[in-house]
Amino acid sequence: MSERWTPDSWRAKPVKQMPDYPDAKALADVEAQLASFPPLVFAGEARNLKKALARVAKGEAFLLQGGDCAESFAEHGANNIRDFFRVFLQMAVVLTYAGAVPVVKIGRIAGQFAKPRSSPMEKVGDVELPSYRGDIVNDIAFTKEARIPDPQRQLNAYRQSAATLNLLRAFATGGFANLASVHQWMLGFIKDSPQSRRYKELADRISEALDFMRACGLDLESHPELRGTDFYTSHEALLLGYEQAMTRVDSTTGDWYATSGHMIWIGDRTRQLDHAHVEYFRGIKNPIGLKCGPSLKGDELIRLIDVLNPDNEPGRLTLINRFGADKVADHLPGLIRAVEREGRVVVWSCDPMHGNTITSTTGYKTRPFDRILSEVKTFFAVHTAEGTHAGGVHLEMTGKDVTECIGGARAISEEDLNDRYHTVCDPRLNAEQSIDMAFLIAELLKQERAGRVRPMPAAAGL
Ligand code: PEP
Ligand code: CO
Repeated sequence: MSERWTPDSWRAKPVKQMPDYPDAKALADVEAQLASFPPLVFAGEARNLKKALARVAKGEAFLLQGGDCAESFAEHGANNIRDFFRVFLQMAVVLTYAGAVPVVKIGRIAGQFAKPRSSPMEKVGDVELPSYRGDIVNDIAFTKEARIPDPQRQLNAYRQSAATLNLLRAFATGGFANLASVHQWMLGFIKDSPQSRRYKELADRISEALDFMRACGLDLESHPELRGTDFYTSHEALLLGYEQAMTRVDSTTGDWYATSGHMIWIGDRTRQLDHAHVEYFRGIKNPIGLKCGPSLKGDELIRLIDVLNPDNEPGRLTLINRFGADKVADHLPGLIRAVEREGRVVVWSCDPMHGNTITSTTGYKTRPFDRILSEVKTFFAVHTAEGTHAGGVHLEMTGKDVTECIGGARAISEEDLNDRYHTVCDPRLNAEQSIDMAFLIAELLKQERAGRVRPMPAAAGL
């Protein structure tokens, strides 16, 4: 892979999961238009995120990444974005307090539109049509016309990403995200939660910490660190034509950056060493993710790291593990040992969603809350045993009160799934399940922290 890289060098490689556009000229026109549009994010922001992730790699911070499996055009609106952001920030505060480390906040948002599919065709009864590949490609309606890939959709995805990002930036810095408000929202959540007794202790301690800061004269509403927050965007960079059009040279460094989002990742189905996605990713300087599923072996991972992070730059590469609750204990230690043996610096993050999808007896794709939690717990236990840092989590979640994953504090049942099953792709944790999950992960972080801050050894002879 020492060949010259260009934003389009991926086109000479075999590629998986790419839609078949019927009109090549229409596609080229859209890509040319996109290439003339302003970038969605700036290279400097991507570099700041890389620095923050470098701290995660060193064990000095924790990564919270989450959002929809797939954003949709139909669900685009201010309330959805606000509700997601509100839940996400509450989770971040819980984790920050419990871990006593900064939490790096990255949404699966403002660009998370393209979906890989296990089968190129979908069959309903006797009718077989091309699969839905995300709103940036085709429409979810099960008709022949809807499933034809339409390049115009890329323009709409760009527009939606820009509008979403604009609101997120306003929320993050305009006062909405101040620590005191986030804590108030959390108290509201706890009051209504069936698990309120369990969460109250942590919430009370945060209240005390805030009271203490106020007593010391800190104004939570005006202090810059407490008034706003850093929030970054990410998505799976699957649709490489779109990504290429959004790839720009950073004028301050001369380097190429993906400007479609701060962080982008390679999916588990498209991580072949000699294929197009790895080729595209090796040339851009953003922080990147690599999904690692059960079929990935240690030596293959090292070869991928050689290509994706040849300079061993801290913060560049996040390995997003998604094995399944029953497989993580078998697969994760081997990968950690290979990475440690080779001295590679990575962020280890746990995606407990994609290996834990089942079909309910009522016919819905769902995920049991307990299995999700179990994968996270094993992820922490393996890292403790290996002496490495459980760096973060990667969740599919929404700020809405949907019924897509079963279980959780309110024990959503298989029968409940029918009530509010809204996802256009994979089942997400709802608002309450997401905050529940944050409190449960907080307990794991506290344990990890207890192991890190060892008591002073007793002096000899005393
Ligand atoms: C996803 O993150 O939505 C996804 C498709 O993940 P994976 O590539 O791990 O299957
Ligand atoms: Co998904």
